[in-house]
Amino acid sequence: MKNKETIFVCNNCGNEFSKWMGQCSSCGEWNSLKEVSAKFLGNGKTKNQTKIINRIEGKLEVKNLGKIDEKTVKLTDVFSTTIGEFDRVLGKGIVQGSAVLFAGEPGIGKSTLLTQLVGKIGGLYVAGEESAEQIGLRVKRLGLNPNNFDILGTNSIDELEDFLNRTQNVYKIAVVDSIQVMSSENTSGVIGSVSQIKESAFRLIQMAKKFGIAIFIVGHVTKDGDIAGPKLLEHMVDTVLYFEGEKNGDLRILRTSKNRFGPTDEVGVFKMEEKGLREIKSEEINMIENAESKIGSAITVVMEGTRPMMLEIQALVIESFAPMPKRIFAGIDYNRGQLITAIAQKSLGIPLYKYDVFISVTGGIKIEETAADLAVLAAIWSSFKEKPLQAKTVYVGEVSLLGEVKKVRNWEKRQKEAIGLGRKVVEIKNVRELK
Ligand code: TYD
Ligand code: MG
Repeated sequence: MKNKETIFVCNNCGNEFSKWMGQCSSCGEWNSLKEVSAKFLGNGKTKNQTKIINRIEGKLEVKNLGKIDEKTVKLTDVFSTTIGEFDRVLGKGIVQGSAVLFAGEPGIGKSTLLTQLVGKIGGLYVAGEESAEQIGLRVKRLGLNPNNFDILGTNSIDELEDFLNRTQNVYKIAVVDSIQVMSSENTSGVIGSVSQIKESAFRLIQMAKKFGIAIFIVGHVTKDGDIAGPKLLEHMVDTVLYFEGEKNGDLRILRTSKNRFGPTDEVGVFKMEEKGLREIKSEEINMIENAESKIGSAITVVMEGTRPMMLEIQALVIESFAPMPKRIFAGIDYNRGQLITAIAQKSLGIPLYKYDVFISVTGGIKIEETAADLAVLAAIWSSFKEKPLQAKTVYVGEVSLLGEVKKVRNWEKRQKEAIGLGRKVVEIKNVRELK
């Protein structure tokens, strides 16, 4: 029989099928089956893979950068990460014996932040992707205390379990970097396959409970799909953290989408710098540099978790020479942007059908709330009229199809933030008042 080129994997439960179905026969989810090339799942033999397998078959290597003093490790139910922004997102701190999925796009800074975490409170770093030497170098470069690190270089869940069995009560946290390169002999399928990822995660969660260690499981997500990735692990773990940001920008946001022990609406804000990730305190969160108004610029206040954050929205409205005028939006939802341009045309009388519209948000932040509608509209108006908006004014409000401006949640908090920074939120009832 010919080798199967593709299989279908349920994005919800991770079961694999040879045929496509509208409903997953395993978990009952509709439309969750995605076609995946068997090569992507690692069923084809690639060079890379042999290398990883060789590493597993090789000897267990534990690189100790220093010595972890057993007596200094006190196990309590909840303990602080000692990183304020991290604690904020988790609730109070790390819950003993919990399993935390730490997900994000490759290169966003997952390993960096978790290395910093271990550097601060001490623990085991399971290096599956990078060599122990690489991690060691990073520890030095970040200026962290090497005595806080034990690095276990392995891709084998079985070896890890064995190791934890022998070192009971030594560690309060362990970082597994990453789930995609871990595998177990108990299950079939090569590294990176859905069955291995599921088995590895299941075993890690068991270990967390059994040994009372909080385990941070690193998972890469890709832009275009979560197959064989963290999505299918979300149901299994206690807490799901997402680390996000524009790779070109230096701002990073830590969010939680599930938390058995705390809130899910808090975010942590960090900046990627030469010496790793630095926490951004509330006072610093203001992203506005200068006070005077510029053409095409409007200031707004969005809520990041429970904290207000002042941002600048820029618009560029120029005459279009394309049959279909361009609509390019960075940092705001595309459909919301389309809607606001339509409202601008109707309520402000701007003939946008013959203008290209570009919108961007400073700091690479993605705005997910409608409270910034009014600012987007005001920026478009300013660019079109080639006139700056009123100085020291902040635009907050959801705009309805008819151009009415609606008050949004946390309005007072946003106003307070604006006033604190020497500005004021404009109070208008209809976008026509911008004219
Ligand atoms: P990394 O933590 O390796 O990302 P992930 O584990 O999510 O794949 O970080 C990747 C990027 O971060 C890398 O391109 C370099 C940058 N970086 C810094 O800017 N400063 C630093 O101190 C470190 C360690 C990394
Ligand atoms: Mg990494």
